[in-house]
Amino acid sequence: MAQFTLPANSKITEGKTYKAPEGAKRIKKFKIYRYDPDSGQTPRLDTYEIDLDDCAPMILDALIKIKNEVDTTLTFRRSCREGICGSCSMNVDGTNTLACLKPIEEIEGDVKIYPLPHMPVIKDLVPDLSTPYAQLASIEPWLQADSPPPPDKERKQSPEEREKLDGLWECVLCFCCTTSCPSYWWNGDRYLGPAVLLQAYRWIADSRDEKTGERLDALEDPFRLYRCHTIMNCTKTCPKHLNPAKAIAEIKKMMVMRR
Ligand code: SF4
Ligand code: SF4
Ligand code: FES
Repeated sequence: MAQFTLPANSKITEGKTYKAPEGAKRIKKFKIYRYDPDSGQTPRLDTYEIDLDDCAPMILDALIKIKNEVDTTLTFRRSCREGICGSCSMNVDGTNTLACLKPIEEIEGDVKIYPLPHMPVIKDLVPDLSTPYAQLASIEPWLQADSPPPPDKERKQSPEEREKLDGLWECVLCFCCTTSCPSYWWNGDRYLGPAVLLQAYRWIADSRDEKTGERLDALEDPFRLYRCHTIMNCTKTCPKHLNPAKAIAEIKKMMVMRR
């Protein structure tokens, strides 16, 4: 019988506990994944007790409070604090989301926070996103048109043409969807994943772009596109309420239509 041993860094130990200040009345425990691959130590789960009466409402607010007031070594990405930059994506209470859009009060019991799943960890809540970024570059996410622009220098769209981009342009490239996709977990080196495929469709659907055929050719591959099996985790988890699975289905439909 085959026996498997999990790698050492997949075992998470109990870490330190940081108690709430004296007199705190509304205490919430935040259990946060801590891992520094350079330290040679296995990951641990540190517990931070936070007084909700002294903390702003979102998960990211609590993380910033912990970093500023309790433990400066806690590492995470963030910038805009309003769901626009896409940098604070992480796994909160078992779901990939943007920490700045997730209210603490939505979580019953202790708040468990991990980095986005199935990605190498650079430190704590910061995953290595080099592969999805390279995959994004591979679909050439910019307008491509050889014909010269009209004399007024604008490439115009009708309201109907512009409407086709709704549900696509709002993507903030947080990769919550991609890292929740089982197909991407197993074939992330060759399957582009929902975030990048939604971006690919964003340019395929743009009436001003003249490279639709080339873009579809580049996706006609058993792995890059067709590893999507419509499991729908991507759509369920998207914190911007977008539907990457639908975008992927639209690309597949176009592949069939042009045959
Ligand atoms: S589709 Fe949604 S979950 Fe996926 S990268 Fe875009 S905003 Fe994030
Ligand atoms: S619908 Fe496709 S892209 Fe979305 S989670 Fe499922 S397999 Fe992944
Ligand atoms: S900090 Fe920018 S999306 Fe959360």
